[in-house]
Amino acid sequence: MEEKTQTPTGPKTEATEVKTGPVGLDIGTSRIVVADGPDGGRTRTQLNAFVPVPVSEMAENMLRQRGMVYEKNCKNLYVYGNDSDFFASFLDTDARRPMSEGLINPREEHSQQMIQRIISMMVPRAKKSDVLCFSVPGKGDGVSGNLVYHEAVLKTYLQSLGYNAKAINEGQAVVFSELQDENFTGIGVSFGGGMCNVSVSFMSMPMITFSIPRGGDYIDRNVAEVMGESNTTKVRLFKEEKLDLSRPPKDEMTGALHIFYEDLMRTLIDRLRSEFAKSGQLPKVDRPMAVVLAGGTARPAGFLQKFEQLLRAEGDFPVHLSDVRLASDPLTATARGCYIAALSETK
Ligand SMILES: Nc1ncnc2c1ncn2[C@@H]1O[C@H](COP(=O)(O)OP(=O)(O)OP(=O)(O)O)[C@@H](O)[C@H]1O
Ligand SMILES: [Mg+2]
Repeated sequence: MEEKTQTPTGPKTEATEVKTGPVGLDIGTSRIVVADGPDGGRTRTQLNAFVPVPVSEMAENMLRQRGMVYEKNCKNLYVYGNDSDFFASFLDTDARRPMSEGLINPREEHSQQMIQRIISMMVPRAKKSDVLCFSVPGKGDGVSGNLVYHEAVLKTYLQSLGYNAKAINEGQAVVFSELQDENFTGIGVSFGGGMCNVSVSFMSMPMITFSIPRGGDYIDRNVAEVMGESNTTKVRLFKEEKLDLSRPPKDEMTGALHIFYEDLMRTLIDRLRSEFAKSGQLPKVDRPMAVVLAGGTARPAGFLQKFEQLLRAEGDFPVHLSDVRLASDPLTATARGCYIAALSETK
């Protein structure tokens, strides 16, 4: 893409207002979240998405008038971040995504430029090699060599902004944000858009980490397919607005959502059990472990109860479990955990 950035209102000010210090950055398939400020409590979110629009005077005027950020080459204007949702529905199309199943999407030619543009409007340039921790998925099916590439590309870019950039496993970031009172011992799970990530942590050390390539997108795609829907956005919006997993489904779409939600939970629990089985000797803990659930896919009513019921269903779990609970804010838990990691590296 020809690098010609048009930012009619200047680069969005959310990045430039902040004084730098430790930064937590959750680079997710659906959304990018930043946590910074004095205690990591300042969070901001942008959709990790973009929409190309053919270049025309009229389209450009409209973007300018609305103060939208966009990038331009000789063929297209690219609207990115949160504005892409409005623009996609305006054009009755799906927004494009720089990432797929937790990693930079090799089939999307603009993936790197678009992620960089979105990150650059969210984090300021570092003043003095501030530590920035960014989330990366754990190993899993189809995630190995491309994880090395994903991590290296993002790290290089964040270093070019002046940061001392370090990658943090996403499940472990959930442990950092939610299990401080348990001495960072317990199981952190992030149910995301592109995948789910798990870390089993003992005293802040990740002993078992893995990802499964299923998340909200998998649910949307499969429900759309069995319902004969060509538009996954329709399924996603229905799911986000109406799904309640604590009530029996009353229509076909809800029934299909229940089925794929359960499929996702069972896949994750089976994998967790088999990871424990093959992990051999783990450190002994004197008290039962808590399980914390984060991520957008864990948001529907009834999710927690259903997950806990499946987790405890087949008798003994390989370790004693105490409570299974939702993160205080499931959508920002990973970014806040990355901030805590960055803060501890700073001291
Ligand atoms: N209220 C809701 N009910 C159900 N699903 C939701 C809700 N809000 C968001 N989601 C879903 O959560 C997913 C996005 O979650 P999240 O932002 O945690 O993912 P991500 O971090 O971008 O992705 P990943 O961690 O997989 O790379 C999407 O599939 C979205 O549809
Ligand atoms: Mg995530």
